[in-house]
Amino acid sequence: MPMMSSPLLLKSLFLLTAAVSTSADVTQREDQYEILPSPDLLNRLLYLSTTYPNFCTLTTTQEWFGLPRAGEEGDCPFDEVYAATKGGSTADAIGKGCNNYVLIIQDKEAYPNDPDVQLDNNFASSSQQPQENESNGWKSVPDVFLSGSVHGNERVGPTSLVEMSELLLESAACESLPRMNFRPIDYNTSNGTKNDLSGQDDTPNNENKFTPEQWEQELSNAQSCRQSLAERGIPSPLRQWLARLVTTRRTIIIPTANALGYSQNKREEGSIDPNRDFPFDIQQHHESECMQTIAGRSINELWRSHLFQIGLTFHGGMEVIGYEWGAPTYLNLDAPDALAQNEIASAYSRYSNGFPGHSAYEFGTMNDMVYYVRGGMEDWAFAGSWDPERVVQCAPTTYGGYPAEKTVYNNSTLRAFNMLIETSDRKEPLRKDLGSRHDPLISSNGKQNGHVARNIRLALLAMDVVEPYVSIRGVEGLLFEDDVVPTVNLKRSSTSFFDDAKLVWVPSGDGEETSVTEREITWTVGGSMTIDHTEIVYGLWDDLPAPLAESGTGLYPSMETRNAIDTKFQFMYSPNDWRNGGTFGGRSRWHADGAYPAEPEGGDTYEQIYNYDPVFKTSIDITNVPPGTAIAVFARAKVDKNWATAAANVGPADLGPASHIVNARTNPSYFASNAGKVIHGREYGWWYSDPITVFVGDPKETEDWDLNDPTASGLTHFSLSSNARGIVTAVHLNARFSGKTELSDTLSRPAPWSPTPWSGGAGETTPSRSNSVSATLVVMLLIAIGIFIRLVRPRRRRRSYRQPGAAPADVEEGDDFDASYRDDVGNEGLGDLELRIN
Ligand SMILES: *[C@@H]1O[C@H](CO)[C@@H](O)[C@H](O)[C@H]1NC(C)=O
Ligand SMILES: *[C@@H]1O[C@H](CO)[C@@H](O)[C@H](O)[C@H]1NC(C)=O
Ligand SMILES: [Zn+2]
Repeated sequence: MPMMSSPLLLKSLFLLTAAVSTSADVTQREDQYEILPSPDLLNRLLYLSTTYPNFCTLTTTQEWFGLPRAGEEGDCPFDEVYAATKGGSTADAIGKGCNNYVLIIQDKEAYPNDPDVQLDNNFASSSQQPQENESNGWKSVPDVFLSGSVHGNERVGPTSLVEMSELLLESAACESLPRMNFRPIDYNTSNGTKNDLSGQDDTPNNENKFTPEQWEQELSNAQSCRQSLAERGIPSPLRQWLARLVTTRRTIIIPTANALGYSQNKREEGSIDPNRDFPFDIQQHHESECMQTIAGRSINELWRSHLFQIGLTFHGGMEVIGYEWGAPTYLNLDAPDALAQNEIASAYSRYSNGFPGHSAYEFGTMNDMVYYVRGGMEDWAFAGSWDPERVVQCAPTTYGGYPAEKTVYNNSTLRAFNMLIETSDRKEPLRKDLGSRHDPLISSNGKQNGHVARNIRLALLAMDVVEPYVSIRGVEGLLFEDDVVPTVNLKRSSTSFFDDAKLVWVPSGDGEETSVTEREITWTVGGSMTIDHTEIVYGLWDDLPAPLAESGTGLYPSMETRNAIDTKFQFMYSPNDWRNGGTFGGRSRWHADGAYPAEPEGGDTYEQIYNYDPVFKTSIDITNVPPGTAIAVFARAKVDKNWATAAANVGPADLGPASHIVNARTNPSYFASNAGKVIHGREYGWWYSDPITVFVGDPKETEDWDLNDPTASGLTHFSLSSNARGIVTAVHLNARFSGKTELSDTLSRPAPWSPTPWSGGAGETTPSRSNSVSATLVVMLLIAIGIFIRLVRPRRRRRSYRQPGAAPADVEEGDDFDASYRDDVGNEGLGDLELRIN
């Protein structure tokens, strides 16, 4: 990077470059990954933070925590580019020595009150202040910590994390389109209901703020970014997965904690090894020998200001995944939660996989697989809060010292699984071994895999398993296109779950055989390994309190909501006759034995095509539910109970689960808190999906719909499911791609929610919410639509993408899987989305 004197000139040059290269940049990157030196890393970080300002923040530990810089005049000259973007307004942005950059990935629009979002002055000032009960959701968002390089000459981590960030951010930004507040809203729909699905911007002043042209632009952007991602091997299910990881987690990435060392391609920061600089299990009377480095202090400050549950620290020099213990005190002992650590490490190894000349990562304790260290970061992050005898208060003399109280930790700060990833035998591997951008998320042991490619996946998996999630995927074979919608926080207002969660119209009977009154629901479970028990619970919206989340901590669902569900709702698990005997539970896609239940081959759901997530199915019985009733449906799951099992030879003995991640799943009364963030054990052991609304309508409402030749009659399938006899069985009323609100206007829909305050305890079921609006003529309205958006279920050719009879595990390993997988996607480019503009 050439030096320039004027920061302003630099700034304008940078912004120009960013603007010009915004769309070209990503798609035109060379196929093979490349280790990025410090100036290129910074450019990429700046590109991300300017291109995706709603989903990430770039800062430095100097600006954030007032830390000094390591290095001298002349070190890290490229940092001037960063200072220029700050317009010279922040004195902290520049000085001699190296900046320690931090990229925060989170959904800033959904959680504007998050202290990390407030770091971004531009964002904080432009976002509206949310209402009281909207403001606390951030407290329950789980924290993930990713460190690229504590040793400056171990080069794979930083590039892997920056490339991973780009995939995440591009997917989340794409998935946030079309943004519903760009939809020209017809506030006077036939039933007088305001159909604002945005979950925000509720003020009447904002009515029709945007033009139909702007909405068309949103739709066209949504289409092209989906297509662009699909062409690079990220079709809808994977894009939605990445968007979920952005919008439901807070991920703190420090690509080069040892910024000085990385810029010099040198292990130490100056002359000190940062991975011996943490106050855990160090030699007696060596208090002056911890927190000497800026790398160590940067990491320490990040942990003090968050509540990390999972972390990764990338190194190099061998190829292994190491977990606790890695400290001399515990040589030859198992750590508390060793079983969970082993299960997660084994999933990391499978998903990252190997490539020619490199097998999948071996994994085990650091003591066994690597060697022990004193003052290592991994064990410090795992045990610093509960093993005080190993922790000392540091009194370093470097950089003018560091306050002793900064190495006093409370009971919650340091209880994470923070695993060591030794990426590669060569600390800087050859470029040909880094892997290619081709299908980056597909686990493979082929040539396109490599050191960067596999660690991108490994880090994504860490983000996934930090917290279990349950997601309702469809009703009556109609699959929802929107998993979680970035920027839309359903927890933000008291009625938003009802008003803005997925709303599905189903007929009360099927028109001909009114006795067929079962409605099928499918759902999945992720963020976990073993699904011990999962089921659907459903009941009347009127029986639920508003809001569904706890107002103080943002915990979802609140105790009041759970009580209502337990006393007034019915439950259904996967029925016995479904797939080899049915099941209460199953396995996630990360489990060593593969996802279960998996759909039989030959279907056309996402899961069948991509063979990822388990698919649970059941039916809810709507016999005797009168048309006009709004039913709330939740899926819920208990997971990973086996993690509470202690290993054989635990030290310290008889401790029980020590980590947040195990306690959150296995200890109902667990509560941890740091820096305003909280972790609650599940009181009843259940993790809940967002609810959907199943609205029971009159089958006559869709009687005239011609499903055999929808286009000829001006109709189109969108967000709609029908049975073999051409009877409409489900309509997703508020699908984001359904143009305006015309379709929903032709069907009855629930009235705005004004629940009677829930009084607690079991009682009479309250009258169902009813709606007197009669159905209007669908053909007339649909012809009037200017834009038809068609969301069809993937109608791919039934290509075999795996060997008949091959187990899912074999599919992951095999080369041929990837080749035919490409074929499958290539046929349709767009994945599952088709957009037609008339
Ligand atoms: C725990 O300590 C951190 C500093 O590491 C502090 O920010 C936080 O408020 C403390 N939490 C509690 C519950 O005391
Ligand atoms: C620290 O947290 C653990 C786990 O929640 C709890 O068992 C223990 O009592 C707490 N210790 C203190 C001193 O609060
Ligand atoms: Zn190292």
